[in-house]
Amino acid sequence: MSSPIWHPFTQHALSGDAPLVLGGEGAWLQTENCRLLDAISSWWVITHGHRHPRIVEAIKKQIDALDQVIFAGFTHPPAEELAHGLIEIAPKGVAHVFYSDSGSTAVEVALKMALGFWKNRGKSRSRIIALEHAYHGDTVGTMSAGARGVFNAAYEPLLFDVVRLPFPAPGRERETLEALEADVPDAAALIVEPLILGAGGMLTYSPDVLHAMAQLCRRHGTLFIADEVMTGFGRTGTVFACNQADVTPDIICLAKGLSGGSLPLAATLCTGEIFDAHYSTDRSRTFFHSSSFTANPVACAAGCANLEIWKTEPVRERIAALGQLQEERLVRLHNDGRFENLRRLGTIAAMDLKVPDPGYLAGIGPELTAFFHARGVLLRPLGNTIYVMPPYCIAAAELDLVYDVILQAAGKFA
Ligand SMILES: Cc1ncc(COP(=O)(O)O)c(C=O)c1O
Repeated sequence: MSSPIWHPFTQHALSGDAPLVLGGEGAWLQTENCRLLDAISSWWVITHGHRHPRIVEAIKKQIDALDQVIFAGFTHPPAEELAHGLIEIAPKGVAHVFYSDSGSTAVEVALKMALGFWKNRGKSRSRIIALEHAYHGDTVGTMSAGARGVFNAAYEPLLFDVVRLPFPAPGRERETLEALEADVPDAAALIVEPLILGAGGMLTYSPDVLHAMAQLCRRHGTLFIADEVMTGFGRTGTVFACNQADVTPDIICLAKGLSGGSLPLAATLCTGEIFDAHYSTDRSRTFFHSSSFTANPVACAAGCANLEIWKTEPVRERIAALGQLQEERLVRLHNDGRFENLRRLGTIAAMDLKVPDPGYLAGIGPELTAFFHARGVLLRPLGNTIYVMPPYCIAAAELDLVYDVILQAAGKFA
């Protein structure tokens, strides 16, 4: 019987049946027919490995106490503990935590907070500035902030205009900063993915330009939003990418690794000033946003266990070691003419495969994905850009398997 399921980002006319996944452990997934090495952390979410025992334990314990409760006007211990823990580890300056349940909603909330801030202050600042090639999610607001293209062409009539800055590729930083300087004075906010643009192609830029962008915002009072949905919780080598640029965002968006990747949970952290702009006996200044599962207790318990793992296990050492393992394997590809733009940031490695037709719609991405799956590795290239973003528990020999299949793919496709 065919499945009634409509899968995300899947062209069903071109793809076969989805593998039935039955289990996960560490860096591995178990399907009905084979084991798959999860080299993209199940869409960038799994940080410590599938089913980390402490996260599993915390989930089991919490479900026995409280499964779900309305979060408007109520609170519960895991939400409180997690919020305090997040403020403690986040870049200095943020003081409040607003929960939601996906990266897209964390960003949507950030955009609404920014506009609410200015409206409640009686200022008509509503323009959002964003980067070329950005990706911030798939809701209407986040698509508006993200790059325009085939992914959102059908929804264009719903999207609002933003000011688009040129991507600060090495050597083009001045261009970005000059464009920002021109538009920043009366904008509501600048939103960026700090140091690396994920879905836009794993494109990296320097901490210096991140710092300079934040400074320009600060000088003009424009809110600086760091979308750390992908980068947060260690991917770039530090807990947050912003740590490397010594910037203190006004708003930080977190999701994916917040629960160690185990359950849907997101948080938008903001400064006291933004909270205060909404704090009033006048009800019309309320921050009007909610979703049914805001701060689900079980997801928050998983988030608390994640923070405990960061506190008590050598996560930073694991991340440094994984970065080194990735670097050693990338170096081996340096003189291989079938690859270009080899790059690494922390635990993330990426490379472009030189293929005759590299466009996203050309089909090379799905072909490569199928090729990798057939060889037991879960990779999901962005067109001809192959990236490796494994959970931090992956072993050297497992990473070798990933690079072996990448070399095999180069032999076939490049
Ligand atoms: C930087 C960034 N922001 C937002 C999102 C959206 O997150 P979600 O898919 O959880 O809605 C993503 C997802 O990949 C992302 O990489």
